[in-house]
Amino acid sequence: MKTLNKIAVLPGDGIGPEVMAQTIKILEAINDKYQHKLEFIKADIGSIAIKNTGKPLPQQTLDICKSSDAVLLGAIGDPAYDQKLDSNVRPEQGLLALRKELGLFSNIRPVKSHESLAHLSPLKEDRINNVDLVIFRELTGGIYFGEKGKDNDNSKAFDQCIYHRHEIERVARQAFQMAGSRKQKITLVDKANVLETSRLWRSVVNEISKEFPNITLDYLYIDNATMQMIMNPAQFDVILTSNMFGDILSDEASVIVGSIGLLPSASIGENHCLFEPVHGSYPEAAGMDKANPIATILSAAMMLEHFDLTQEANDIYGAVNRCITESILTEELKPRVYTSCSELGDIIYSLIYDNMIDFDTKKIHTSKSVII
Ligand code: IPM
Ligand code: MN
Repeated sequence: MKTLNKIAVLPGDGIGPEVMAQTIKILEAINDKYQHKLEFIKADIGSIAIKNTGKPLPQQTLDICKSSDAVLLGAIGDPAYDQKLDSNVRPEQGLLALRKELGLFSNIRPVKSHESLAHLSPLKEDRINNVDLVIFRELTGGIYFGEKGKDNDNSKAFDQCIYHRHEIERVARQAFQMAGSRKQKITLVDKANVLETSRLWRSVVNEISKEFPNITLDYLYIDNATMQMIMNPAQFDVILTSNMFGDILSDEASVIVGSIGLLPSASIGENHCLFEPVHGSYPEAAGMDKANPIATILSAAMMLEHFDLTQEANDIYGAVNRCITESILTEELKPRVYTSCSELGDIIYSLIYDNMIDFDTKKIHTSKSVII
């Protein structure tokens, strides 16, 4: 197992820099507590990179990422580009190119419901009790990366969806391995009644499943899966799916936990790994110190876990869980104690650094400002 020393930090756009600042704060707490020497090297990506260099993924950023042990990413996206969808350069291209260049073929998005947040979900509480699922989204193939084109007169456009057997095999193996350490169940989500690529997915995943005889494999069409996700999400353990279906399903799954601001993700390839929140750049909140840093902080915990720093990761999970249970959170979660983005970072820092012993959350005032 590789060791974790150098971390490329790409704060990106919108609320990215704010949530990333809190995440670095938490990793500094881990550095101090465990005498680690995690190093952070910052670089631009997305809209800010276009502004500074003309490119959404500058070569220098790519080099830094390639020579680091892991990449931490904030968020990408700028509403200015939604006005000019025809533009040849877009911030999102930076993220897509980075995933491709680093070979990050598997995107892991865990979704776990919290009893104390159940009232915030638009879904009925009895539906979301005990949800604990992981979406495995293929990340470097499919319709996202197929050939695209458009006629000059705007009369026709196309996006090709191609999957190669090996692309399916490698993400499927990771998903089966994960299911082995969980509830031993995989659901392959596809559209095999219509799409040839989905039929290939079914036959390849079926073959791979023979290597994992203890794991139950079942199948759902994507249209049915989106319905099941809101009717009975607790039925799922590991969901395995293609790039675009995984993108859509994971946003849908975020309503289960009450806020997309809580969902982390890990993107894993053969030689590189990247960790980023599922949420976007939330430009309306940029610079206001009110965004939820938890998704990015939990992404950092997934990074530590990936490098077998289990105790360190558990410290972060424990501290975040405590804030959730005691309802000390950012405003979108309508908490008992409102915190700003940076105040929540400070509280999580203290919970980790003080070993959670001396910290009395009852002393935090239930006003809009936090006094410890
Ligand atoms: C995600 C995002 C990206 C995607 C965008 C920003 C390109 O929505 O990571 O889920 O579609 O993959
Ligand atoms: Mn998405």
